[in-house]
Amino acid sequence: MKPLAALALAVLLAAGGREPLAPPAPAGDWRWKLPTGVAPPPVPADNPMSLAKFELGRRLFYDKRLSGNGGVSCASCHQQRLAFSDGVALSVGATGERTLRNAQPLANVAWRKSYTWANYSLTTLERQMDGPLFRTDPVEMGINDGNRQAVLARLTADPLYRREFARVFPGEARPLTLANIVKAVASFERGIVSFDSRYDRHQAGTARLSAAELRGLSLFRSERGQCFRCHGSADFDEQMAGQGRGLPFRNIGLYDIDGDGGYPFPNRGALELSGRPADMGRFRSPGLRNVALTAPYMHDGSVATLEEAVRVHAEHGRGDGRRNRWKDPLIDRIRLTPAEQADIVAFLKTLTDETLTVDPRLADPFAAVPEAGR
Ligand code: HEC
Ligand code: HEC
Repeated sequence: MKPLAALALAVLLAAGGREPLAPPAPAGDWRWKLPTGVAPPPVPADNPMSLAKFELGRRLFYDKRLSGNGGVSCASCHQQRLAFSDGVALSVGATGERTLRNAQPLANVAWRKSYTWANYSLTTLERQMDGPLFRTDPVEMGINDGNRQAVLARLTADPLYRREFARVFPGEARPLTLANIVKAVASFERGIVSFDSRYDRHQAGTARLSAAELRGLSLFRSERGQCFRCHGSADFDEQMAGQGRGLPFRNIGLYDIDGDGGYPFPNRGALELSGRPADMGRFRSPGLRNVALTAPYMHDGSVATLEEAVRVHAEHGRGDGRRNRWKDPLIDRIRLTPAEQADIVAFLKTLTDETLTVDPRLADPFAAVPEAGR
């Protein structure tokens, strides 16, 4: 449909061209499937989970119509087969601009206490979404005041969306709003749960790890490895609920461009927001689930392989960054031989959840009908 025709239709519907009311979708029918020891994630009181909302959010997540020029969807940069990352150092947005940082994988994203690499003020998925939807520097999805109505009209033109928004947000005069789009997509994201790797099966006693993988696991948890200090939660980050307070961000010594600990602008970590010198180069310790699928690594994708990512830690940083004055002292405590680093890499590869990458509940709903939407 041409934008103008879509707009006309939206106006018509808004003006009272009502369709028969769909019955409200069941609420409260969402069940978390989690291993013992993992508590359900926090869910905002004003955006409870439901199967219908999750399903609506999935559709929107994969829908390129949810971008200013119809060029990208969330899934362009968060692909299921790559554990919802995208395999490139920096991603390309709707208008061809590159993102500043590496696209993060989204499995278990519901448990994070803050979102993105170093923005400690973004504490809900709903708020995080303002970034991809509206950011201008650089553009990701490219929705702005000029095209916002056209984007909404484009989605309103789809009878499936008209029906589902009415069902999922019953009682609202105009349920198809950006605010409700955000709620639905956030619900989908919360439902991207990954606890079915070989490591998990080993923990549950239903799979065996090799000798090298087991050595890697115990090195990971050891004083010589130090990995558990920053990647020690059930999600192998240090953010999952229940793991202490506060939001630690860490400098692991990747850069020192000025001899004073400087990281390259605008990737100076938590300092970009706080302005505090000690926050220079401090980024969130990423979760390591599915890490074999999420190359390249680090906040700027500057490390190509898993082997190199582990080596950078074991060598106490990279190049000049090894002397970075803001480097976290834990990094210098790491003592790993090359053979031990190889064992850790073997262990990290057991964190791949193949069920996640093919789960039909998380898959592209447009894949079967390529002409629709995307
Ligand atoms: C053009 C590529 C691109 C698109 C499109 C995109 N993202 Fe992202 N996403 C990124 C990048 C890059 C980051 C890391 C941002 C940063 O640290 O500054 C990210 C980070 C995130 C995070 C934070 C994850 C974490 O662990 O903290 C979430 C959540 C997220 N994106 C969800 C979405 C959703 C939902 C959409 C669609 C509305 C979307 N993204 C569209 C590239 C993209
Ligand atoms: C002091 C905290 C700390 C310790 C200890 C630590 N890491 Fe990290 N790790 C980080 C931070 C922070 C990053 C991201 C750095 C950046 O992008 O600037 C990271 C990144 C990684 C990455 C890249 C992941 C990705 O998605 O980009 C891997 C793999 C990794 N660490 C594995 C390990 C292993 C294995 C060990 C133990 C040998 C270890 N880490 C010890 C804090 C730590």
